[in-house]
Amino acid sequence: MEKTEFNNFLENGYIKKENIFDDNSIDSVFNQVNKSRKLDHSLFFSKKEYFFRKDLDIYLKNKIPWVYGNYVNLKKKYFPTPKQPEAFRRSNNLANNLDLDFIEKNKSFVDMCHTILGDNYTTILKKIVISASEHWMPDFVIDELKNDQIKGLKDFVRPKYRDVTYFNGIAFHQDYIDHHGTDFRYITGYIYLNDVDITMSPLYLILKSHKFLATKFPHNLKYDKLNEEFSYYNDQFDKCLEKLKYLTLTGKKGSAYFWTPYTLHGTPQQFGNIPRISLRYLIKSNSKDPKLPINMIYDEFKNKGFSSKINQTYKNEASNFNNFSLTNITQNKIKESSKA
Ligand SMILES: [Fe+2]
Repeated sequence: MEKTEFNNFLENGYIKKENIFDDNSIDSVFNQVNKSRKLDHSLFFSKKEYFFRKDLDIYLKNKIPWVYGNYVNLKKKYFPTPKQPEAFRRSNNLANNLDLDFIEKNKSFVDMCHTILGDNYTTILKKIVISASEHWMPDFVIDELKNDQIKGLKDFVRPKYRDVTYFNGIAFHQDYIDHHGTDFRYITGYIYLNDVDITMSPLYLILKSHKFLATKFPHNLKYDKLNEEFSYYNDQFDKCLEKLKYLTLTGKKGSAYFWTPYTLHGTPQQFGNIPRISLRYLIKSNSKDPKLPINMIYDEFKNKGFSSKINQTYKNEASNFNNFSLTNITQNKIKESSKA
């Protein structure tokens, strides 16, 4: 791995790889995903079906809470699988049926894993992620999600299509949110399977944002529109990282990005008709060697007093003072580019 990539990972919290994977193999994976389902209304429960389930849940919870407990346990017993592919849980996962050796045995990919994570690393999750367009989401789904910062579609999708993850925008978050309370040291990888432009819900990533380590979601960010920079306050409000630049990860198919569990990233809603189809990896180090970059990040910042003081990951909406949304930022960029 090149020294500049190594330093970029430590300093900015990410690595970018371009042109390392064979285009034909990327196309082949893309086509298999694309052929596996129609990306339209047919993915979703009907409004009637969805609300029957939801209303039943609410009714039982409120009216007969003593039955609700048993009902939840029965559901867990008979439907133990998650609604989307998740680490350490058994479920239908399309990615497990794809031949991804051209990625996982790719020299540059393996070299990067060795350098960042050490020789002993484990892929704890690989899954396909599809950005959903409001053009093919039913109105009731759009309506149900309108106030959510993480617009995941897993509750609305029919069980047979839950072998991939669908999103329609996610506010800035850390992937640590999925493993809080654990001491996993890992990287997330995203590999684009089609060309991604600004209308296709590209990932956004805030440089240097990993330096606070874990902070609570929603994160305290202020956006300076004029200079296109963020100020990032930690939970105790006594520290602030200022003038943080961000990247909009538009790019060609095969572009790959890797980041730390603490790097802030998110996606706007999708505006165009073409979905972004990507492959997402979580790769965990099995070594505590302090010289490994993944451990250096954690330990070095911890020594500087940036320790993660997380008792709970979700805090209430009122303490979040974000003055932007990724969807707004993206809409403005699209407007600007159409003027030019
Ligand atoms: Fe994420």
